Amino acid sequence: MLEAAKSALQKAERPVTFSGAGLSAESGVPTFRTAQSGLWAEYDPMELASPEGFAADPALVVDWYNQRRRTIAAAQPNPAHIAMALRNDMVHITQNVDDLLERAGAGDLVHLHGSINRDKCSAGCGYREIVDMADPHSLRLCPRCGHSMRPDVVWFGEQLPRVEWLRADELAAQADAFIVIGTSAQVYPAARLITTARTAGATVIVVNIEPDSAPGIHLTGPAGLIVPQLLS
Ligand code: OAD
Repeated sequence: MLEAAKSALQKAERPVTFSGAGLSAESGVPTFRTAQSGLWAEYDPMELASPEGFAADPALVVDWYNQRRRTIAAAQPNPAHIAMALRNDMVHITQNVDDLLERAGAGDLVHLHGSINRDKCSAGCGYREIVDMADPHSLRLCPRCGHSMRPDVVWFGEQLPRVEWLRADELAAQADAFIVIGTSAQVYPAARLITTARTAGATVIVVNIEPDSAPGIHLTGPAGLIVPQLLS
């Protein structure tokens, strides 16, 4: 399967990667849905990653994101991030909000769900600020308009950033190889990109520790081991 995937990639002129939390798992950043160890096993996502949850208890939500920020700040890019960063012939679409691909040196990135290393004004005045991930602010007010600041990530029930979504949708429709790395593909519209790529005729290559029956070339195993083999 690895040889088939590598040969498809060698022929590809418009390869695109599409990643989820499994890409960063070996860096020590928890995934969402992995039973027991996942974030959603411990917390109610609607309570912490939704506008309603933030409105109900903004300090709790900010503290939870700050806990994740510190975990990410202490984490290092793993060999999969590094292998992807070296492939600057590829565009990397990611659902992840961590900055590990940036820290690995990746250039052309599309963050569909925002970036945890940024805060934005919760009232939408447009004010944004980069966050010190190792020592993030607790709940504070927007210096421009006085409303609360919040993490610049997409919450349940919110729209994806328009520019990023439109670009990702176009990339998926034009890709001739679409490499799906470490995602349960359960969250829409992001997961729809896989169908878009497949329907447009791309070879879909899936890297996941869990076997999967969807059409495509499946490379079952940890991203940190498989992605460097696939992309080198
Ligand atoms: P999930 O936690 O839903 O899925 C993680 C996937 O990675 C699963 O399919 C695992 O089998 C796989 N996996 C775990 N460890 C791996 C490893 N070492 N190597 C390869 N694969 C591994 O995370 P996502 O699919 O990213 O949304 O979740 C999608 C979205 O749901 C997230 O972006 C977030 C969440 O709600 C928002 O933040 C809006």
